[in-house]
Amino acid sequence: MSTRWPAIFIFGFSLLLTSPLVSAQQTVVDVEGHSWWQHAVFYELYPRSFADSNNDGIGDLNGITSKLDYLKNLGVDAIWITPCFPSPQVDFGYDISDYENIDPMYGTLQDFDRLVAEGRKRGIRILLDFVVNHTSDQHKWFLDSKSSRTSAHRDWYIWRDGKGVSQPPNNWASSFGLSAWKRDPATGQYYYHYFYPEQPDLNWRNPAVKQAMFDVTRFWYKRGVAGFRLDAVDSLFEDPKLTDNPVVAGTDSFGRPNMDEKYNQKLPEVHDVLRALRKVADEHGAVLIGETYTSTIDELKQYYGEHSSELQMPMDMMFATVDKLSVPEFRKQIAAIDSAGGWPVLLIGNHDMARSYNRYGDGVHNDAIAKLMAALYLTLRGTPILYYGEETSMENNDPKSKEEVLDPISKLGWPLEKGRDGERTPMQWSADVNAGFSKAKPWLPVPASARTHNVESELKDPGSVLSFYKRLLLLRHSEKSLLDGEYVPLNESNPSVLSYLRRYKDEAVLVVLNMAGSAQKIDLDLFPQGLAAAKMTTLLTDMAGVLQDPSKGIALEPFAVYIARLTK
Ligand code: NOJ
Ligand code: CA
Repeated sequence: MSTRWPAIFIFGFSLLLTSPLVSAQQTVVDVEGHSWWQHAVFYELYPRSFADSNNDGIGDLNGITSKLDYLKNLGVDAIWITPCFPSPQVDFGYDISDYENIDPMYGTLQDFDRLVAEGRKRGIRILLDFVVNHTSDQHKWFLDSKSSRTSAHRDWYIWRDGKGVSQPPNNWASSFGLSAWKRDPATGQYYYHYFYPEQPDLNWRNPAVKQAMFDVTRFWYKRGVAGFRLDAVDSLFEDPKLTDNPVVAGTDSFGRPNMDEKYNQKLPEVHDVLRALRKVADEHGAVLIGETYTSTIDELKQYYGEHSSELQMPMDMMFATVDKLSVPEFRKQIAAIDSAGGWPVLLIGNHDMARSYNRYGDGVHNDAIAKLMAALYLTLRGTPILYYGEETSMENNDPKSKEEVLDPISKLGWPLEKGRDGERTPMQWSADVNAGFSKAKPWLPVPASARTHNVESELKDPGSVLSFYKRLLLLRHSEKSLLDGEYVPLNESNPSVLSYLRRYKDEAVLVVLNMAGSAQKIDLDLFPQGLAAAKMTTLLTDMAGVLQDPSKGIALEPFAVYIARLTK
C-alpha cells in the first residue's frame, strides 16, 4: 500500500520515518516551508457513532481501524477522535475518569496501538481529544479532592465557601444550564464546574495540575499520537477574586439572562498554559488544534501566539458558525482569517452544532448545497476538518420528544434546547439495517434518509455528494495552487456568487460558487492578476455545460460550483 507519510522532505533531504515518536510536525514538506498538517485533510470522528465492530450498538476503535481504507480512499490524512478514554459518559466522553487508558466500550490500549500502526501504514495520523478544563467527578483526583478540606488533591479543583446560606460563591452560570457551582455536603464547600456538575473544573493555577496534565500528553505522544484537539481552552482560568459577571441583554437557550463571561472565559493566563503545552508538543513533533470560540479575529490571532508559540491550529469558529448561504458574510470571514497571519483552520460542522446539511440546506437543493459548501471550505487556504458523515450528506436527526433525548443539556432545556444527539447519529455505511453501522440497535437512531445517503450507494453514483468530495479532495492534494496558493478575492461586490483565485506563481485555481437559488452569470476581470489571457481548464463542476472562455463570462446554474485551473 502506498503512503504519503514516511517520505518527508526537509529542505531537499528525504528522511524515512520509522519511529512512532517522530510525527514530523516541525519537518517541512515543501519549498514554502509548510508542515505536514498544513497540507493535510483532517477528519473528526465521533467514536460512539463511526463503526461498531462487536455489534453492541456503540462504535469502537476496532471499528475505526476497519474503516481506514475508506478514509484513505476519501483523501483523509489525519483523524481526530473525540474522547475514547474511561468515562461515566455523562457528557459522552467529555467527562474523563482516567486520561491514560481506553474505555472498555471502545476497546483496549492494544486496540489503540493497532489503530495507530494501521493508520501509519496508510499515511493516516491519529489525534486525540484532550479535555484540559475539567475531569469527571469520578476521576480519582476529584474523589480525593472532595474527600476532605485537607486532602492531597483538594487544591486540584476550585473549592470556595458559599456567599451565605444556600448561596453559591458568585453569579457564574454553567454553559450547560443552572449555576456553575455545586455544594458538596461532605465538606460544606462549593466546587466550580463550567459544564455539567459531573465535570469539575481543574485548578490550572496549581503547578501539580499542570505537571500531571503535561504528563498525560507525554503518555500519548509516546504511543504515537500526532497531536491533540484541546477541548474548551477558553475556559481554563477564572478570576481568583470570583467577581460577578455582568448581566447583559437577552436570554439564552435555557431562558436565563445572558452574561458577559469576562471573569471566567478567555483569561490571559490561558496563553501561558498553551505555550507550555506547545513546548511539550514540539518535543514530540506534535500538532495542537484548539476549540477556540472567539468572537473577533484579534482574539483568534492570540491563540496562534506571538511567534506561533501557542496553537498551530486554532479553529476559526466564526467561519464555522456562519449559518446561512451569505456571500458577503463568507467573504468577510474569509478575508478576516486570511489576514490573521496564522494558518486558517476551517470546518463547517462538528459534534456540537447542527449538521451543515441542515444548516445550509433549503430543503429542496440540499445535495447541491452540500457540494457547494464542500467546494468552499475545501478550496480555501488553510487546513480543513471534515466532520464524519458530512461527505455522505448526513442530516440531523433530532429527538422527536423529551423521552428520546440522551444529551443532558436537552433533558434540562427541552424543547428550546434540542441538544446534540441529532448531529451524532451513526455513520451511514449502507442501506442495510441500522445503516450498516451495527447489527444491534444503535445508541442513537438512524434517520430514514440513510437509505439513499450512505457510503455504499454514493460510491456507486458519480453524481453523489460523496463522489464530489472525493474529487475535491483529490484536487486539494494535487493542485499546488490549492495547497499553497494565496487567496485572491474576485468580483467583491457580487452578492450571490463567491469567486476567488488560489494563486500560486504563474498559475491559479479559480473557484466560483453560486450561493443563490437562481441562475447567475458572472464576468471575470483577470487583467489585474495578469491572467486575462490565461488558459482555463475545467477541473471540477457539478454543471452539465459551461463556457470555457472567462472573457465571455461564466453562466452558473443555481447553487453551482465551477473550479478551473488558469495557466499563463
Ligand atoms: C466542548 C465539546 O466539544 C463538547 O462536546 C463538550 O460537551 C464540552 N466541551 C465540555 O467538555
Ligand atoms: Ca461496539
